[in-house]
Amino acid sequence: MATNRTLTIIKPDAVSAGNTGNIINDIIKAGFKIVAMKLVHLTAEEAGKFYEVHKERPFYKDLVSFMSSGPIVPMILEKENAVADFRKLIGATNPANAEEGTIRKKYATNVEKNAIHGSDSDENANIESRFFFAVTEEV
Ligand code: CMP
Repeated sequence: MATNRTLTIIKPDAVSAGNTGNIINDIIKAGFKIVAMKLVHLTAEEAGKFYEVHKERPFYKDLVSFMSSGPIVPMILEKENAVADFRKLIGATNPANAEEGTIRKKYATNVEKNAIHGSDSDENANIESRFFFAVTEEV
């Protein structure tokens, strides 16, 4: 069922602003089922590992520091065409470019503090799900 699951993270900005409940509500209303969920505070080392693909980018250090600055809520979500549909629901990485009604348009502050993460491929959904959860099957 590789095409039916994705991994999301409600980021520290959204959790600390008290937007977790509203964001989960938007996700459920859009037809996603929550398969796994937890609240966790990553160390800088763990955040660095999660975003390792970006380690050569100029924003990497700030991103790691932001993602380890407070609690986050990772979730595995299930829906047909989950990866693409979820990226549509959250909107562009930079909220300035996000469409009206998307989660980032509603809750993000800027390109770094952008409220929520969504996997960009089935392969990464699998890798990222395993980072946070003891997944025993292919997601
Ligand atoms: P995310 O979808 O979690 O994937 C990588 C993250 O890097 C992205 O969301 C942003 O939070 C961050 N990011 C991407 N581009 C930039 C940028 N130009 N400046 C700062 N942060 C960025």
